[in-house]
Amino acid sequence: MLSLAAPTDPAWTARAVAHLPEVLVDHAHCEKKAASTALSLLFRYPEREALLAPLSRLAREELVHFEQVLALLAQRGLRFGHQRPSPYAGRLVAAARPREPERLLDLLLCAALIEARSCERFRLLAEAVPDPELADFYRGLLASEARHHGVYLELAREVADAASVRERLEELARHEASLLREMPRLARMHA
Ligand SMILES: [Fe+2]
Ligand SMILES: [Fe+2]
Repeated sequence: MLSLAAPTDPAWTARAVAHLPEVLVDHAHCEKKAASTALSLLFRYPEREALLAPLSRLAREELVHFEQVLALLAQRGLRFGHQRPSPYAGRLVAAARPREPERLLDLLLCAALIEARSCERFRLLAEAVPDPELADFYRGLLASEARHHGVYLELAREVADAASVRERLEELARHEASLLREMPRLARMHA
């Protein structure tokens, strides 16, 4: 249902639970980046009317998530700041084709896959973290990320026919799964 080509390696969950403070800081960066992705699409494609309101809503929701993670960091005495990011999202988006309208389709599908992977991993974290408050927080987020995944897929269907969307989604999903196997073993949401 999430269109992922392969599940997360259980070693990722063990690493994330062992380095939760680092994962929480990275998570805050990811929410900020998700808002920025939606906003940058708004700036780049102002003529795509069907995209405008859904992307604006998405950007706002991601900023609310960002603020929620900042509050969790503060409660735990952790500081937000610079952190080496995982190359995952940059490498995934690098697979987007250069010409329009294929580029827009690919950017929407990459965003859909990132949301799907986040959703899958929030579920793993919710089941694995010992802190019940944090587990509840992850459970709440996984529902939003599943919805965001669906929003990006609907937007993709606004810019291409269903068969092209399906075919390209499968290709990019296989690419996403292979990228994850090559990622540095960092304690990051997408490593
Ligand atoms: Fe989010
Ligand atoms: Fe999201």
